[in-house]
Amino acid sequence: MIPHPPPVTTREAAAALLEWYGDAGIDTIVLDAPRDRFAETAAEIESRAARRAPEASAPPRDGAGAAERSLSPPAASRREAHAAPPPTVDGFPALSLAVPDEIAVADAHQRAASAKTLDELREALAGFTGCNLRLTATQLVFGDGNPDADVMFVGEAPGREEDIAGEPFVGKSGQLLDRMLASIGMTRESVRVTNSVPWRPPGNRPPTPIETEMCLPFIARQIELVRPKILVCLGSPAAKVILKTEEGILRLRGTWHDYTFGVGPGDTIPTLPMLHPAYLLRQPAQKKLAWRDLLALKARLDERA
Ligand code: URA
Repeated sequence: MIPHPPPVTTREAAAALLEWYGDAGIDTIVLDAPRDRFAETAAEIESRAARRAPEASAPPRDGAGAAERSLSPPAASRREAHAAPPPTVDGFPALSLAVPDEIAVADAHQRAASAKTLDELREALAGFTGCNLRLTATQLVFGDGNPDADVMFVGEAPGREEDIAGEPFVGKSGQLLDRMLASIGMTRESVRVTNSVPWRPPGNRPPTPIETEMCLPFIARQIELVRPKILVCLGSPAAKVILKTEEGILRLRGTWHDYTFGVGPGDTIPTLPMLHPAYLLRQPAQKKLAWRDLLALKARLDERA
């Protein structure tokens, strides 16, 4: 006889499900409440006809319409996102991500190139809808620190803490980065810190190659606008995308490279790949290599001073 499994309470089942989600790497809640997208689709079909009628009649005189117009655009669109059902095409939910990748990449190039200041670049990035990561991220993490810094650090992508704070390198890796800077007499405020991808990938998965490619024009333009004397790539993904190499970080780190974005003076920046602080937290024995690289960075800076 097959033994019956012990009875499970709803609470235990819910706890087990949450644990399973956690083990699967799901740590991002996209909506406040679960949403049955199949039921929604059926409901959409039914409500579409009903929605058409008021649309065809006279515009609202007061209430919702007037209030909506008086809201600032972001507040209005937030309210829309909660109140109005998602748009549909022939009864199916319309995908807001239907921008083909090549068009998104071309758009990214055009937007980044037209930004003349860091503020304009932030605006350009905020208006860029080609990268899906913005849909699951809480907010854009553009970069922080000194806009005229001598040294600029580029990491991979924001993690959970950065996504919440809207600032790069504020979690455990960021705290280690701060200590690394302090060890050579630098402060976080004196340098520029950013990432090659400005939105947190869900569950901290690595950005895909196409996501990285779409964001590249923006980080390239940020480097160009800051024009640091020295660029530091933190970790393998940043080094690969900035230096356009497939070489592993353990070979690249501690060696100087040129990052060139033009033909003018100052358009080539000495670039040092270093081990990522997150890696150093997992492999503390490798901190000796990071220390060597920090000393090389300081020596190069002192030379140029
Ligand atoms: N890791 C990164 O590469 N960037 C951050 O901002 C945080 C962690």
